[in-house]
Amino acid sequence: MSHRGRVTVVGSSNTDMIVRVPRLPAVGESVIGGNFSMVGGGKGANQAVAASRMGSEVTFVARIGSDQLGDSTVDSLNREKIDVQYIVRDRECASGVALISVDECLGDNTIAIAPGSNALLSVSDVLAARSAIENSDVLVCQLEIPIDSVSEALSIARTAGVITILNPAPAPADGLPVELLKNVDILIPNETEAQLLSGDSDSDPVVAARAIVARGVCTVILTRGARGSILFQNGVEIQIERFVVGPVVDTTAAGDCFTGALAALLSEGNSVEMSARIANVAAGLSVTKSGAQPSLPFRESVMDAFAHVGAN
Ligand code: RIB
Repeated sequence: MSHRGRVTVVGSSNTDMIVRVPRLPAVGESVIGGNFSMVGGGKGANQAVAASRMGSEVTFVARIGSDQLGDSTVDSLNREKIDVQYIVRDRECASGVALISVDECLGDNTIAIAPGSNALLSVSDVLAARSAIENSDVLVCQLEIPIDSVSEALSIARTAGVITILNPAPAPADGLPVELLKNVDILIPNETEAQLLSGDSDSDPVVAARAIVARGVCTVILTRGARGSILFQNGVEIQIERFVVGPVVDTTAAGDCFTGALAALLSEGNSVEMSARIANVAAGLSVTKSGAQPSLPFRESVMDAFAHVGAN
C-alpha cells in the first residue's frame, strides 16, 4: 500500500451548524440544547477530506458561494492539501448550509440542508474538470448536486477506465436512471437509500441491495450503522462487523468517512474487500468524535486501529 493514489470527488460542500440536544425534537417541539458549533461539512467535501487524510492526492470539484462561509471553506480545504482549482466560486448564490441536531445520548442526528450553490454545480463545471477526472484512479460522487452533473462525471470516468463510486445520498424517491447506474462500479447506499433505490421502501434493506445488484451494479456495499456493512460482489455476500472503539458521540459523516477512505484505499490498488474492511475501521473511529470534518481520522490512526482488529 505504498502508491499514493489520485481521487477526484465531484460533489457538495456545506457549512454545518450544529447543536447537541438531549434528544431529537419531535414535530412541533422545541428542545433546549448545548453550545452551538459551526464546522466544515457537505457529503462531497467530507469524502474529499476523508480521502486526503488517508493519504490520497485529492481534487475536489464543487460550486461554492463567493461569501464568507465559502472563503472559510476553501481555506480549510486548502489546509487539507486538497486541489481546489476546479471549485467554481458562484457570484449569485450563497454557499450550502446544513442545520444539524445531534442526540447527545445516542449520537444520531437530523439534518436539514439549504443547498445554495451546490444546486448550481453544472455539467459545464464537470466538463471543465475532465482532465482531473480522467487522470484519477478513483472518482467519487454523491447526490447533493444536480443528477445530470453526477451522470456526466461518471460517464467521463467510465470512458477513461477510472474506478467509479457513487454514494447515493440523499436517495431520490423515484430511483436512479439505469443509464447512470451502468457507469457505477461501486454503489454505497445506507439501508434507507437501498430501500428507496430498489423501488420498495418497505423492503428488507438486504433484499433491496440484492435487487440493486441484479440491475447490473457491479459491487454494492450496504452500510448498516451499528450492524456494520455487507459487501455484495461477484455473487458473494461478505459481512463486515462494525468496528467499536468507544462510545458513539456523533454519527454525522460516518458514511462519508467510509466512502472517502474506501476511495483512497482503492486508489492505491487494494482489493474492494480489504479497502472496505479498513474503511469500516475509519468510520468506527469517526463516530467517536463530534462534527463532520473534525471527526475524520488520519491514516496513521486508522492503520494502527486496523492492525489491532486484523482482517477479521
Ligand atoms: O453526511 C453528513 C453531511 O450531510 C453533513 O456534513 C451535512 O452537511 C450534509 O451534507
